[in-house]
Amino acid sequence: MATVRELLNSGTARLRTSGSESARLDTELLLGWAIGAGRTAVIAHPDAPVGADARDAFEAAVARREKGEPVAYLRGIKEFYGLAFAADSRALIPRPETEILVDAAEREVAWRLTSEPRPAGTPNLRVVDVGTGSGTIAIALATLLRRRRMLPEVTLLAVDSSADALGLARENAVAHAVADVVVFVEADLTPPGEAPFDVILANLPYIPSAEVDRLPVAASFEPRIALDGGPDGLDVVRRMLAALPVLLAPAGTALLEIGFDQGPAVEAEVAALAGHWECLVQADLSGHPRLARIERRQQSHGAGRGAPAERLATGRAPGSATSESG
Ligand SMILES: C[S@@+](CC[C@H](N)C(=O)[O-])C[C@H]1O[C@@H](n2cnc3c(N)ncnc32)[C@H](O)[C@@H]1O
Repeated sequence: MATVRELLNSGTARLRTSGSESARLDTELLLGWAIGAGRTAVIAHPDAPVGADARDAFEAAVARREKGEPVAYLRGIKEFYGLAFAADSRALIPRPETEILVDAAEREVAWRLTSEPRPAGTPNLRVVDVGTGSGTIAIALATLLRRRRMLPEVTLLAVDSSADALGLARENAVAHAVADVVVFVEADLTPPGEAPFDVILANLPYIPSAEVDRLPVAASFEPRIALDGGPDGLDVVRRMLAALPVLLAPAGTALLEIGFDQGPAVEAEVAALAGHWECLVQADLSGHPRLARIERRQQSHGAGRGAPAERLATGRAPGSATSESG
């Protein structure tokens, strides 16, 4: 019977030859999945024997990985924000850089619920996650707000134009026990009749079409609609920005994930909106501009005008700018 060490060594060698840049990690994850034990157990027990069924499942998964299929789809699971999400080809695999959008969303919602008294009868805060994919942003936010006992004051909508993605998102919401608090809707950007929103969250496709074709082969297993943002990557984002004057409540905030080089283009789009707007681009954990915060310029407490620190992330991308338009 093969041991864990033997299978790890042979799997790593095969994946290295096939071009995987994370061959050892991929192999540990796949063997852990095949054994049903997790990666830590695999690393901790190199001499453990592996049964024939687990070995066959592992070998089959390595063969698919050799052809480029993402590990997350093979295991059917991806960790995001410390939570395990079901992952398959119906939706984009959640990326770690999106976690700062969840952080910012939690800060934004918490600040809005605590900075001013909310007498009985105050309408719920309306939050929408546009392009929810497998539901990660809305679901992670819901679990955070549940922990803070804030859910009863929030109405949380999650929208996608892909019925497939929404099917996966609903399964994830059930798994995280928030299916009763997140409402999933199929629509282009947002469904008619739901605006205005106090907080708009969006990680829409933003990769230029030509670059999508050059991504590592793993990305070719993901839905193209989740990645391809048109010639300059901003087709859908630009439509979202143009709709903000209608979709965003007067004191509302939009938080959009963008490509690391799209800050100036997004700032220019915001500057062209009718009225007085500001756009602040914040960096992700790697220091790359990643999160655009957009809101109307307020007389009393706009983001650039002394908004409480707990509302804003500290990390500002080098070279990013606050664009004040209007
Ligand atoms: C980059 S993926 C993000 C998925 C998820 N929010 C995440 O962060 O993992 C973009 C998502 O936007 C959806 N999408 C693309 N165009 C859209 C549109 N016009 N309206 C609504 N959703 C759209 C795609 O189906 C895809 O699920």
